[in-house]
Amino acid sequence: MPPVDFCGMELAHPIVNGSGTFDAIAAHAVFGDALHEHFPFAAFVSKTITIAPRAGNPPPRLWETASGMINSIGLPNKGLAGYLESDLPKLAALPVPLITNVMGSTAAELCELVAACDEQDAIRAIELNVSCPNVKTGLDIGADPVSLAEVMRAVRPRTRKPLIVKLTPNTADVALVAAAAEAEGADAVSLINTLRATAQKPGASGEPWLGGVTGGMSGPAVRAVALAQVSAVAARVSIPVIGMGGVQRGEHAAQMLRAGATLVAVGTESFRDPAAGSRIARELRRLLEP
Ligand SMILES: Cc1cc2nc3c(=O)[nH]c(=O)nc-3n(C[C@H](O)[C@H](O)[C@H](O)COP(=O)(O)O)c2cc1C
Repeated sequence: MPPVDFCGMELAHPIVNGSGTFDAIAAHAVFGDALHEHFPFAAFVSKTITIAPRAGNPPPRLWETASGMINSIGLPNKGLAGYLESDLPKLAALPVPLITNVMGSTAAELCELVAACDEQDAIRAIELNVSCPNVKTGLDIGADPVSLAEVMRAVRPRTRKPLIVKLTPNTADVALVAAAAEAEGADAVSLINTLRATAQKPGASGEPWLGGVTGGMSGPAVRAVALAQVSAVAARVSIPVIGMGGVQRGEHAAQMLRAGATLVAVGTESFRDPAAGSRIARELRRLLEP
């Protein structure tokens, strides 16, 4: 399997992690330098960083569905200053390029995050998590091509680093949103983020199980939806696509590549098997080089 060029980065293989699904700092604390010697991904995507620290949602935060799960973690993070001061030096030591994922509820917040990342040599690319309600409209920024285009026009000039827009599947026409991102200068798009979902407490109360009421569904249950959305987006745009959603095996990654993805991200599967990234890359290599 030849190395992959992605936005000017030479990656050893096409498998990366989905934001928020692999804690490289915690993994290093457990596995030590062995983690760096056998790092499961060809690039590392940080979990979402916001300007202010966030505590996340109250528990319970997880619900198992048929062939998948709903998480309502609520993006806990140390905030921009905490990330730069305490996490970035550790993530900079990883043996692969670092992509930092950021989220803001206004264009101004996103501009501040992107400008701060732009100053950091250790950050090779920036992923915008646009699954966040716009404070003006209440709609997710990434659900609406007009709102996304407006944000991109403000954010794009703030960095020369590659900008990846992480698309939400919770929209009527994801390819239209991807086209808006490309038209406003995105270097790549990634999809899918989680599907909005909820669960009730067992029994007849009808009360929500999750502390955050709704959450995002991921895992094998969403794979067919992800494949359809990745195909639709890859057919619509000329920039590279990172495909994800329910990838568990090399065969699933190969399907994402055939659908037009350049890279494939592994998310929920890493909770079951922390070495899933390396295993899937190995399986993919065997499939592509029979
Ligand atoms: C526990 C959990 C936390 C996540 N955190 C983030 C996050 O911080 N930022 C983000 O953009 N996506 C986040 N995601 C979404 C994943 O990166 C990915 O888009 C989604 O889970 C679909 O892939 P999968 O089915 O392989 O998990 C999270 C997903 C899970 C399951």
